Amino acid sequence: MAGENGGGVSLDAALIAIDRACREGAVIRDRDLLESFAGDESEVAPVVPDAAVRATSTKEVAAVLAACSTHGVPVTPRAGGTGRVGGAVPVKGGIVLAFDRMDEILGIERRDLKVTVQPGVVLGDLHRAVEEQELFYPPDPNSWESCRIGGNLACNAGGPRAFKYGVTRHWVLGLEAVTAEGNVVKVGKPTAKGVTGYDLAGLIVGSEGTLAVVTEATLRLTPKPEGVATLLVFLPDEAAMEGVITAVLGRRLVPRCLEMLDSLALEIVRPQAGLDVPEGAKAMLLVELDGELDQLPAQVEDCGMAMLEAGAVDVLVAKNEAERERLWAARRELSHAMRRQANHKLSEDVVVPRTRLGELVERCRALSAEHQVRMPSYGHAGDGNLHVNFLWNDPDERPRVEAAIEGLFRAVVGMGGTLSGEHGIGVLKAPYLPLEQSETLIALQKRIKEVFDPRGVLNPGKIFPTSRTHRAC
Ligand code: LAC
Ligand code: ZN
Repeated sequence: MAGENGGGVSLDAALIAIDRACREGAVIRDRDLLESFAGDESEVAPVVPDAAVRATSTKEVAAVLAACSTHGVPVTPRAGGTGRVGGAVPVKGGIVLAFDRMDEILGIERRDLKVTVQPGVVLGDLHRAVEEQELFYPPDPNSWESCRIGGNLACNAGGPRAFKYGVTRHWVLGLEAVTAEGNVVKVGKPTAKGVTGYDLAGLIVGSEGTLAVVTEATLRLTPKPEGVATLLVFLPDEAAMEGVITAVLGRRLVPRCLEMLDSLALEIVRPQAGLDVPEGAKAMLLVELDGELDQLPAQVEDCGMAMLEAGAVDVLVAKNEAERERLWAARRELSHAMRRQANHKLSEDVVVPRTRLGELVERCRALSAEHQVRMPSYGHAGDGNLHVNFLWNDPDERPRVEAAIEGLFRAVVGMGGTLSGEHGIGVLKAPYLPLEQSETLIALQKRIKEVFDPRGVLNPGKIFPTSRTHRAC
């Protein structure tokens, strides 16, 4: 374990204080048990922490953070551990602060359209709980059966439904959070509107657990759409995507999801989803519309016609809930399916203006040819958010992969895009942050970090670049 700022680092002293403040059994020091707090769903090398604390209350969280700050011990927050960039990996050792036991839905306020949750709530449980009351919480990262709200807040998670409904930040009203020094603050507003003071909730959401730790979140809800329809749209190539989506929007239809698979991704998912891909189809869109039951059939018809007129090879409508579920299960599994394609996989999460997505896929193809790396891609076409995968088998191929990734990032920034749409920067993309952000901007953010976390103990080693090594995810 290494203290960030020198000035007295004592794990033992921190643990004595934590033991005193937390209930029995909260602190884990057994090495075998600690292994489950070492990694996440990226391929960032797991690091077994010195200890883990499974907190059960804000008071315990505050005590852990105060002790870690006082004694200079790194502390890494952990929710579902499903992150893709190493955000929950305790790269500097120290203590993992786990939220799996703070998993209560504290209250659904139906008439005020809001819900208050603890950070350990599994997103799928929240979806089900509010939907039972005909309410809807739209953010839906594909890991929703295992990711937890705390992690969604940390990386401002998106998901397929973001095209119509926005990302996690758009659904946050107020937060209770604990700063690195152990101070409990309420940020944001538990009301529908509010502009007093700075938008610190907006700042904490997406800060990847580097500024403060959320202990309670009040989230906005909306009435649950009455019906949903899923369309499978086959395209002659990726370049056709733009025209097809623009045609749909031109009919004043706003699908909730516009998910795309390029030709390589389509080949991977085809057997799993039992897809009958028509002749001449090289790319696919999974389109979903929601709304009033009596209006949906006309919208589906209109949407399908618009896409066919704009050059789609074929449009199929999912016949029933089972077929819909099969298509989505294949889509949700795509990231894992990619991982099974080769010994090594890196997956990026870039965003460009939607209208330039076809151009980006073209650039990927050129990079793939230039560097001889397999690069299937898929993603959230409506948001211009592409998951570009890099697959390779032999470790010797690694320098070529690195060169292709750098080429991708440079192309994306050149197209007015960004390095990460939903997974965050974490450990993996930190070396590349300066490609997108100026020195001045990075310095300003580091000063904000110092205000929240003067001793630099909270989730150290994330976001800000320290070296040029990009590690596999
Ligand atoms: C997805 C995850 C990887 O869209 O963001 O499948
Ligand atoms: Zn995604």
